[in-house]
Amino acid sequence: MPSAIPKSLARTARLMPLLILLSACGNDTENEAIRQYAQAAAPADPELAEIYERSCRSCHARSQSGAPLTGDHAHWAKLLAEKSMDTLVDNTVDGYGGMPPMGHCMDCDREEFKALIQFMAQAPEDNSQEPDA
Ligand code: HEC
Repeated sequence: MPSAIPKSLARTARLMPLLILLSACGNDTENEAIRQYAQAAAPADPELAEIYERSCRSCHARSQSGAPLTGDHAHWAKLLAEKSMDTLVDNTVDGYGGMPPMGHCMDCDREEFKALIQFMAQAPEDNSQEPDA
């Protein structure tokens, strides 16, 4: 069957423009940037950073967890607009969907949750201050 190979090559060639379009999608690049930021980011305040790293980070820095990602400003802005900061803090305390009560920080208070949410809601470019700046 000498024609089998040229046929499948022709099919791949027809798909190429589509593949190029898909990989050039701007949203994917943006999501990748947020994923990378989420994996590295921590609050500037050392105490808050300690809480964030032991409690929130394991889920909110991993897109597979289903949690809104740290630095995904658009997602957090929508949650804040729809629900208010107060409700988001309530939902952190009570647990919400796949999110455990207190986000695994049993000794955290509402002020700390609020500060953690503010940190996670920041766009990467708004949290670019260097430690020594
Ligand atoms: C075990 C994983 C896990 C941990 C740990 C965790 N979260 Fe979450 N969080 C989630 C998931 C999953 C969602 C999405 C829930 C949904 O929309 O169903 C979420 C959603 C949220 C929301 C949005 C709630 C809403 O009303 O939409 C807030 C606020 C939040 N988390 C704060 C925190 C804070 C602060 C911490 C650390 C103290 C934390 N989370 C730790 C998994 C986690």
